[in-house]
Amino acid sequence: MQLFDLTGQVAVITGSSRGIGKAIAERMAEHGAKVVISSRKPGPCDEVASEINAKHGEGRAIAVPANIASKEDLQRLVDDTNAAFGQIDILVCNAATNPYAGPMAGINDEQFGKILQNNVVSNHWLIQMVAPQMLERKAGSVIIVSSIGGLRGNALIGAYNISKAADMQLARNLAVEWGPSNVRVNCIAPGLVQTDFARYLWENPELLKQVTDPAPLKRIGQPDEIAGAAVYLAAPASAYMTGQTLVVDGGITIAW
Ligand SMILES: NC(=O)c1ccc[n+]([C@@H]2O[C@H](COP(=O)([O-])OP(=O)(O)OC[C@H]3O[C@@H](n4cnc5c(N)ncnc54)[C@H](OP(=O)(O)O)[C@@H]3O)[C@@H](O)[C@H]2O)c1
Repeated sequence: MQLFDLTGQVAVITGSSRGIGKAIAERMAEHGAKVVISSRKPGPCDEVASEINAKHGEGRAIAVPANIASKEDLQRLVDDTNAAFGQIDILVCNAATNPYAGPMAGINDEQFGKILQNNVVSNHWLIQMVAPQMLERKAGSVIIVSSIGGLRGNALIGAYNISKAADMQLARNLAVEWGPSNVRVNCIAPGLVQTDFARYLWENPELLKQVTDPAPLKRIGQPDEIAGAAVYLAAPASAYMTGQTLVVDGGITIAW
């Protein structure tokens, strides 16, 4: 058994048309997985799937667009994957939403509701749709992309951080429920990564400095630097790990 071998495993990765999700899909494919590329927009999903098929051979990637806010879309994502690849072995809940930055007093109910829906409840929906087959086979790895925001108080993105803390708790709860059936559930908590999602943070020189100055590695991360943690959590290398949150943040959370 190779520690990081994903040969023949089927991985569904939400939000994989760009950023961290795309890097995870590419690296999982490189380690042998068949991958399902998903986001709201069909065009970018098709492009990523085509790139992966061109690199690793036809049939290694398919595109199934789905908005994580829609239960129907998520069910179609699961059904289309089962139809194309037969089963789902690895689920990466990566797509998330943050429509608001500012003090908690200023967030409206719609914004708060959307954050909790997309970042917590939709993960719950999708995981519950995939779990029965994993539990039956007594094998499976669920990975939720959380954030170091879920480990810290913060005056700018407080509601988003509440959702990311809830993801860590979701992983702990499901790890306890499903451990006896050998289905593992873990989170990854990235620090600041250079993607479109966090552009408003890293493009602001003052905010960027606030992050990089105290960080031991003195820089923000790249999407590909998060992908290895996902490969690890999907692979036999992490067979004895469940309910945990793996922090990948250049050391920012351990520094003064
Ligand atoms: N970047 C950071 O600094 C950072 C730090 C910690 C945690 N994270 C977490 O990392 C994850 C990925 O973020 P990222 O930085 O890689 O973002 P990104 O580069 O902006 O990519 C986001 C991906 O999610 C898709 N997406 C957005 N809304 C969606 C929806 N409603 N339904 C389905 N797909 C949707 C996007 O495609 P479409 O627009 O086509 O839907 C895209 O594929 C998120 O959970 C985020 O909270 C990011």
